[in-house]
Amino acid sequence: MTNEITIHLDINGKTHSLSVEPRVTLLDALRDHLALTGTKKGCDQGQCGACTVHVNGERVLSCLTLAAQAEGQKITTIEGLSDHGAELHPVQAAFLEHDAFQCGYCTPGQIMSAVACIREGHTGSDDEIREYMSGNLCRCGAYPHIIEAVREAAKVMS
Ligand code: FES
Ligand code: FES
Repeated sequence: MTNEITIHLDINGKTHSLSVEPRVTLLDALRDHLALTGTKKGCDQGQCGACTVHVNGERVLSCLTLAAQAEGQKITTIEGLSDHGAELHPVQAAFLEHDAFQCGYCTPGQIMSAVACIREGHTGSDDEIREYMSGNLCRCGAYPHIIEAVREAAKVMS
């Protein structure tokens, strides 16, 4: 017997209605129910940051958030980051320009965190960027280029 509930999620400016079990995470709702697979599943336990999205502009680990909890909130994923459709967000452009990825698996989460880190004003020094990006792990060790990209994107966005 299924125990599904219908929820309405506002994602990247569009409302999606979906039927899910109450325990389904926002991450699984995005990936498995809405085919928004840009948000990655690394650990599924709140430890890697690969699943980072924005809820009302704040970064959130979607693997630790129930989809139902996100109802009525404004969710942004990597697919909706750029306001201008085809144009890249300045942080995406900086990641490309500074080679801030290797396999790319952590990259969407890094970028979502970086946007929030810049908005929060935590880019005063490389150490500060490192500290506020520390929830996002990169198994490829692309950290020096990630810091560089965040530093440069912060200049463009200021
Ligand atoms: S998948 Fe969510 S923190 Fe790793
Ligand atoms: S680029 Fe491979 S995990 Fe970060």
